[in-house]
Amino acid sequence: MSIFPDDQAIAEAAASLCAGKLVAFPTETVYGLGADATNPDAVLSIYETKGRPRFNPLIAHVADLEMAEKLAVFSPLAKKLAEKFWPGPLSIVVPLRPGHGLADVATAGLDTVALRMPDHPVALALLRATGRPLSAPSANPSGKLSPTTAEQVRRGFSGKVPVLDGGACKAGVESTIVAVDGETIIQLRAGALAREDIEKAFGRKVARAAKGAKISAPGMLLSHYAPNASMRLDTAPQPGEAFLAFGPASAFSGETRNLSPSADLHEAARNLFSMLHELDATGAETIAVAPIPHEGLGEAINDRLQRAAAPRD
Ligand code: TXA
Ligand code: MG
Repeated sequence: MSIFPDDQAIAEAAASLCAGKLVAFPTETVYGLGADATNPDAVLSIYETKGRPRFNPLIAHVADLEMAEKLAVFSPLAKKLAEKFWPGPLSIVVPLRPGHGLADVATAGLDTVALRMPDHPVALALLRATGRPLSAPSANPSGKLSPTTAEQVRRGFSGKVPVLDGGACKAGVESTIVAVDGETIIQLRAGALAREDIEKAFGRKVARAAKGAKISAPGMLLSHYAPNASMRLDTAPQPGEAFLAFGPASAFSGETRNLSPSADLHEAARNLFSMLHELDATGAETIAVAPIPHEGLGEAINDRLQRAAAPRD
């Protein structure tokens, strides 16, 4: 069975997007809830459908660097980042170009935009077919877990949003977001591209965004990825709890999912949201989570776990 949508399905989805409708589509990180980024009404319906706070700007997805450069001004360093890591899980915050055409609501009124070219054949085919930038946050109701399968998207929006099914996402966490300030690369959000990989490729340290700094990602709300269960991190499970394990099996007899029995952080990132969904669906009141190393993709995994565990209002 082929899970990839055929040309006709892509063409229909593109027509629907150009008519101002929403279409969810797969990327290598998570499924995105896509809208024509130049159409304010279409973008507004993303915020409405997700129940997302208005001040949160959206990542605009592009088919290639050429489309990106029509929207924004790339410094030599920003351009090198795109050339090195696109298509891929890196969003780059760049100043808008005059006459860019993006809807104000897509950038939440900022004079910069986060752009990325996703590394997924379905996403790229869709972007080429629409010929327009697509705003796409993760395709989940605001505050819920990010979806990594088409089925999770359908369930999240009760079947109200059409979904292109491209199989399970290979990365499983959102893109890394960086901004460029002169010769400095600043990481605004840890994500599927490890900070160390950028540092290795560019032979320099990547700065981490300070709280309240000039450049920040306004959407980095503390409580964001919220399962119904409460969560205890960096710990061993107690009787009655569900357990999200990492590494070689323990003797725990309760409901358990193991992010990666072989302690592989890529595998763990890919499994993170699905396994949280599954453990949450058992109705457990508390999910205990094993310690996850803080290196490489562990940074993004721990970031997501901390958000999931943050106090809710
Ligand atoms: O992997 C991903 O990035 C997924 C897939 C669908 O591509 N998309 C995604 O988009 O996670 P979204 O909209 O959920 O994430 C947007 C993040 C927010 O934290 C927002 O604050 C930040 O990007 N952001 C967007 N524009 C920005 C800007 N101009 N300056 C700083 N941060 C920005
Ligand atoms: Mg999200």
